[in-house]
Amino acid sequence: MTTTYRIAVFPGDGIGNEIVPQAIRVLQAISNKYNIKVELQEALVGGSAIDEFGIPLPEDSLRIALNSDAVLLGAVGGPKWEGLDYAIRPERALLGLREKLGLFANLRPARLFTALADASTLKRSVIDGIDIVVIRELTGGIYFGKPRGIEKVDGEERGVNTEVYTTHEIERIARLAFQVAGSRHGRVCSVDKANVLESSELWRRVVIGVHKEYEDVQLSHMYVDNCAMQLIRNPGQFDVILTNNLFGDILSDEAAMLTGSIGMLPSASIGGEVGMYEPIHGSAPDIAGQDKANPIATILSVGMMFKYSFGLDIAYDDIDSAVNRVLDKGYRTADIYSQGNKLAGTIEMTDIILNELA
Ligand code: IPM
Ligand code: MG
Repeated sequence: MTTTYRIAVFPGDGIGNEIVPQAIRVLQAISNKYNIKVELQEALVGGSAIDEFGIPLPEDSLRIALNSDAVLLGAVGGPKWEGLDYAIRPERALLGLREKLGLFANLRPARLFTALADASTLKRSVIDGIDIVVIRELTGGIYFGKPRGIEKVDGEERGVNTEVYTTHEIERIARLAFQVAGSRHGRVCSVDKANVLESSELWRRVVIGVHKEYEDVQLSHMYVDNCAMQLIRNPGQFDVILTNNLFGDILSDEAAMLTGSIGMLPSASIGGEVGMYEPIHGSAPDIAGQDKANPIATILSVGMMFKYSFGLDIAYDDIDSAVNRVLDKGYRTADIYSQGNKLAGTIEMTDIILNELA
């Protein structure tokens, strides 16, 4: 018996419209290889949905996502929509999907592709062999906490956001971090600001409590300012970084940049029944429509989908090793190109990866 997986496809804006169709080619190839049936349903989110329907996350798109087994998303946003009211900006599509799909965990691997070590702004000796996963809490904290807003008080304005975490929100993300670490190098570093914030004090206490169920995993704690510094000083010390929504937003960009190749990194948002997979880079409007964008992060995101939503780790490994072989052979898109390499466009790069997969 073959199962059919329903996949919602949201290319979004900018280069999303070029990299997602290419990643779909890889998705089809891998599905054929493992005899998996997929049913794709495409819809608009972000700026393209604003242009068409006036809102970033139309009912129809949300319904398609809720009825799917997994979501593949390109990127949203662009200068065209920057002046819009905060509540209907393209970014709200992402936040809405995270909330409505219950995606409380965001996994962002930052791993060095050996062939690209010289693309990092840090010395090779510092970044050699780094293999970090940032596990970011994604549906709580200051991103969603109430009260929030801008109010008038005593003739001036007052902007408010609230950092708030409850026990169960911390427990579930901590559990996931220990499980992921258990399948990797067995170390979790929980990052907080427990020297100043009560929400962090609770975070730390709950993480310590959950750790009792995972004693084979090593747990350490670090203040977020120190972590930002340690990531630059000695990133090799980290395996899994577990942290809240806001700190995770910041630290995952920092960790990604260590690898020198933000265009290469995939992400998975999980925790609900439907997982969402997307490259961590943005919509890059400056190069959109020119067949220049690097499709690798989206292609690897397809790999993460097979691993985390369909339980097919081998499909992830296949895609990952095909990408590595292509890099070893010297093929590069413009963002990671250096002299002596072979320059490839979005489509050609995908052709070469598909060749390696076959
Ligand atoms: C990310 C992005 C989003 C976030 C924005 C676009 C809302 O920066 O996925 O990291 O802050 O979570
Ligand atoms: Mg971010």
